[in-house]
Amino acid sequence: MGARPLSPRRPWNGRRVLLGVTGGIAAYKAVQLARDLTRLGAAVDVVLTAAAAEFVRALSFEGVSGRPAFRDLFAAGDAALHIRLAREADVVCVAPATADFLARAAHGHADDLLTTVLLATPAPVVLCPAMNDRMYGHPQTQANLEHLGQRPGYSIAGPATGPLAYGEDEGPGRMLEPEEVLEHVGRALAAGPPWVGKQVLVTAGPTREPLDPVRYVGNRSSGRMGYAIAQAAWRRGAEVTLVSGPTALEPPVGVSSVLVETAREMHAAVADVLPRADVAIMAAAVADFRPAEARTSKIKRGKAGARIELELERNPDVLAETRDRRRPDAVVVGFALETDHLVRNAEMKLREKDLDLIVANDPRDRDAGFEVETNRVTVIDRSGTVEELPLLLKDEVAERVLDRIELALAGRSATGA
Ligand code: CTP
Repeated sequence: MGARPLSPRRPWNGRRVLLGVTGGIAAYKAVQLARDLTRLGAAVDVVLTAAAAEFVRALSFEGVSGRPAFRDLFAAGDAALHIRLAREADVVCVAPATADFLARAAHGHADDLLTTVLLATPAPVVLCPAMNDRMYGHPQTQANLEHLGQRPGYSIAGPATGPLAYGEDEGPGRMLEPEEVLEHVGRALAAGPPWVGKQVLVTAGPTREPLDPVRYVGNRSSGRMGYAIAQAAWRRGAEVTLVSGPTALEPPVGVSSVLVETAREMHAAVADVLPRADVAIMAAAVADFRPAEARTSKIKRGKAGARIELELERNPDVLAETRDRRRPDAVVVGFALETDHLVRNAEMKLREKDLDLIVANDPRDRDAGFEVETNRVTVIDRSGTVEELPLLLKDEVAERVLDRIELALAGRSATGA
């Protein structure tokens, strides 16, 4: 989802992010990260170590964040800088975090601005290791990471496996990409009750119903709405499983994805995961019908003549036909695409499919629905409350839907249901 436009939004907007940069070749990625965080509405305070300044200049960061970038623990006129930065941060993210920095952090060193901030901050800390694969694999580095990862409020993001610096091998040690780090920072900012420890199931995307080995019956769903919900639920602290039909999207960060093609495969995957789910959100555009016969060889134009009869048969209704797999206390949310009588038809689906909430939209709305970044939805609950949301980015629609689910979850734990 890297190419999405970035604009101020939850949970970054209005928050203070202290971005620590240490001396590795991946420091260049930190400039992009500072830029993206700033575009999401965060105020980004950058602290460079002396080694980082060998790779990238403070000025580069100031140019993208619009704020001073710091290097010096002993700068004249601001003796308590480390205390101020540490106190004001809502989250501290060190990207890249080199082997040397991890060693110093693990031992509580305080010999430069970044390590002193780390000791002084009450904020959650996200460390993004980046180094040569052998340095990463060294038992001392592994011990340092394990030790740091067990600290309350600390999380280790990455590294990824892939090509390392020029002339080196491929291996584990590559810093996560900025758009992945953003999500880890988002989770550090947003995770909290009632989501932490909750299992969330999301379905997304279209299904493809094969006609022959080349062709299929499908629909225009891009999967964006469901992917945005899965990502936002993970940021709030949940364990998320995404059951997705074919899409062009990158898998959401931190989410375990189950990729399926057909409605029947989606049905089986959902039936498998649902018994563990505290929350189920069914945003997939499941094909209601499939070709009655999926040919094993390609339908040849020459042999088919001028006209083809296509016989379709009904697919399972994934949402309705997995009802007996739901936990009694699960919060279940469906989507509804309606071209006529939106509220009335959506309410009917809510009752028929036994849902807590239904999110309805009209696919003919040009700014909403399929293949666009925005959506205009109406949220209806069991009690018949109808909330019409304005045109919003799908990411914000996802947050609003999760806000409603959060209320339902809070209600359940209050009544002990
Ligand atoms: N759904 C499903 N399995 C299907 C069809 C729909 O699980 N075979 C789910 C969708 O994921 C969505 C909800 O049911 O959460 C409503 O989907 P929608 O396509 O709007 O409704 P349908 O039940 O297909 O009804 P209709 O075609 O009559 O509008």
